[in-house]
Amino acid sequence: MNLSKRVSEISPSLTLEISAKAKKMKAEGISVVGFTAGEPDFNTPDYIIESAKKALDIGFTKYTPASGMQELKEAIANKLKRENGLDYAPNQIVISSGAKSSLFHSIASIVEEGEEVVIPSPYWLTYPELVKLAGGICVYVQTDDKTGYKITPEQLEKAITDKTKCIILNSPNNPTGAVYSREELVALLKVIESKNIWVISDEIYEKLVYDGEEFVSIASLSEYAKEHTIVVNGLSKAYSMTGWRIGYIAAPTEIAKAVSSMQSHTTSNACSIAQYASVEALNSKKGEEFIASMLKALDERRKYLYENASKIAGFKCAEPKGAFYLFVDVSAHFGKSFEGEVITGSLKFADLALRKGVALIPGVAFGDDNSIRLSYTVSMDDIKEGLKRLSEFVSELK
Ligand SMILES: Cc1ncc(COP(=O)(O)O)c(C=O)c1O
Repeated sequence: MNLSKRVSEISPSLTLEISAKAKKMKAEGISVVGFTAGEPDFNTPDYIIESAKKALDIGFTKYTPASGMQELKEAIANKLKRENGLDYAPNQIVISSGAKSSLFHSIASIVEEGEEVVIPSPYWLTYPELVKLAGGICVYVQTDDKTGYKITPEQLEKAITDKTKCIILNSPNNPTGAVYSREELVALLKVIESKNIWVISDEIYEKLVYDGEEFVSIASLSEYAKEHTIVVNGLSKAYSMTGWRIGYIAAPTEIAKAVSSMQSHTTSNACSIAQYASVEALNSKKGEEFIASMLKALDERRKYLYENASKIAGFKCAEPKGAFYLFVDVSAHFGKSFEGEVITGSLKFADLALRKGVALIPGVAFGDDNSIRLSYTVSMDDIKEGLKRLSEFVSELK
């Protein structure tokens, strides 16, 4: 069987692979603390579920326009105006089956075969695969804890060539939890404008920021920025609706049209029931209450995990200011061994930690082989137990 060149270059998701391994161990009765999840461990709020039930009861179960139902586009336009200071007409918004789908269609609609896409690293592992699928070339820019895992204007300027089409920005960031400040975005925008490139701004963790950090959409910084940015967002993380599959873009009209047109042939509309309930999710005041209570719980876990993981020998943690991940440099342990096997990198570290009953994601999946990612969308009890096991694991290394 000859697979197409594009598809054979795609790597399967390492995060899903490790989660599956941990799940299998659990099914076999082995105790595993899972720090791998990429989704909140809260139920979707009842008011959203009630709205979905209503959609079923009134028979809202047919196709909607491929780009999404008008009421939801209006609710999103209102949200963008109210919360982000962004003025988009409903026809500049395209609703999709999840932000991942929006990202794919966005990249495919602007990136020409052979054009370069700047991806600050560590990155969410899906970006490179989507760029490759679209025929683009990934240009990685390595960031580290010295700049809080954020790309600097100097780094960006150096990475841009005459083949560069865009940069993918992700703030708050998966996997590092980094949040770009307004000043940092203004400085990056100067370079972006001088080089005349596009921005794909993945804002899916917008609502999950801590310590008084302010979320800023780069698109809101100037008219130029708005005209050259595709804002990608969705309801997955903020409303704990990962399974409902609702994402969206807000973009200049021409891009929105192109994305809508592509989408009309790939996925058609996002689930009508989920769209119907998303209108209520965004418009109701109950949304804010839900997000505030989820954020409070996540913040407690974040602080506890950060403080206590930082005490484990050889763990160098980046303090996360957003999302729900802790990124830990564990390279101090490379070269040591566990049960006779040498830790050669993050993958081996994760593999051996699993034997101690802790599932985590190796940083190599995100382009940083020195680190691991711990998700704190697990109970405080699990966090405590997981930390205990990690401490033991580290103390047993020879
Ligand atoms: C940075 C980032 N962007 C996008 C997504 C995808 O969101 P959705 O579930 O809406 O496709 C994720 C999910 O893990 C993510 O971490």
